[in-house]
Amino acid sequence: MHRAVAVPRKAAEKTRDRIVRARAHPNVALVKYWGKRNWPLNLPSVGSISLTLGALHTEVTVQPTSGSQDEYWSNGRLVEGPPLEDLRRFLDLFRRLADKKEPLAIRATSNFPVAAGLASSASTFAALTVALAAFYDLDLSKEHLGTLARQGSGSACRSLWGGFVEWKRGERSDGTDSFAVPLVSPRDWPVRVAVAVTDTRPKPTGSRLGMGRSEASPFFPAWVSSQEEDLQAAREAIRAGDLERLGTVAERNCLKMHAVAFTGDPPLVYWRPATLAVLETVWQLRAEGVPAYFTIDAGPQVKVLCHAQDQATVQAALAATQGVQEVFVCHPGTGAHLVEGCT
Ligand code: PMV
Repeated sequence: MHRAVAVPRKAAEKTRDRIVRARAHPNVALVKYWGKRNWPLNLPSVGSISLTLGALHTEVTVQPTSGSQDEYWSNGRLVEGPPLEDLRRFLDLFRRLADKKEPLAIRATSNFPVAAGLASSASTFAALTVALAAFYDLDLSKEHLGTLARQGSGSACRSLWGGFVEWKRGERSDGTDSFAVPLVSPRDWPVRVAVAVTDTRPKPTGSRLGMGRSEASPFFPAWVSSQEEDLQAAREAIRAGDLERLGTVAERNCLKMHAVAFTGDPPLVYWRPATLAVLETVWQLRAEGVPAYFTIDAGPQVKVLCHAQDQATVQAALAATQGVQEVFVCHPGTGAHLVEGCT
């Protein structure tokens, strides 16, 4: 069933004076999206499961610009080149639905390093999706919003929801069945994710390029064919609140994803020496009886899943690891939402 999202339905036909603000959290993939079955539509080769991360967020404002072109500001800096072109194509999806043509000014502000493997594109495009739907008074279901968010950044469709979320691979060639659905709400299983930052510089190889290179790996078909087993194990572990089972499948899935990147064409290593040092810390924590499990997205940072009662122990161990610059501890976050309605 399609559920309508809470978008203000104001009669203001003119968007000239409007400013809409929305906020979304990034998410960490526990069973990962890696590879595309359709590149222009951003349709994934595999389904994925994530946890939305509460302490980190991106706020996006949408308003008309007095200029003749779209403007994109990220953390106060004007963005140009390919990221601006990607954004423009994304704005066009909404302009077509609203039958509007006006250029827009988009301002995104994140409270964490952007483009560094911390999923800032997920939080940015999820917040932007909610803000644009409200800006144009589009009364769209959350599934429809998911298919739009997915076209900005695949993982953004998962940040529309809070807690544990599954993005369905879908079967249709037009992508109408490839969107995210919630599994368990943020309140229902309050685990923690400690994010060990090992390098805050923007990553040299974005996920799009990384996926293309990985699809050339001889192991890519095995990655795709073994995903359903990991998804099923993760769904069951999440439903049962079984951290050990979820952590075990998350680690295995993460290492499989990086194995296809390592063996891509050309090969791709997202890790830094400190990334591996954090994995050793996690294994040591487990040897000492602290259930903690790692995962790594398309960058050198390591995210560590643990019980709430172990967060201080895990945070201290990660912070003491050579090369770790900062550790954020996140509780499960809520889905993307408006901060202020239309003005
Ligand atoms: O959504 P994108 O294009 O930023 O790709 C995300 C890729 C990973 O973070 C590595 C995995 C995932 O499922 O989020």
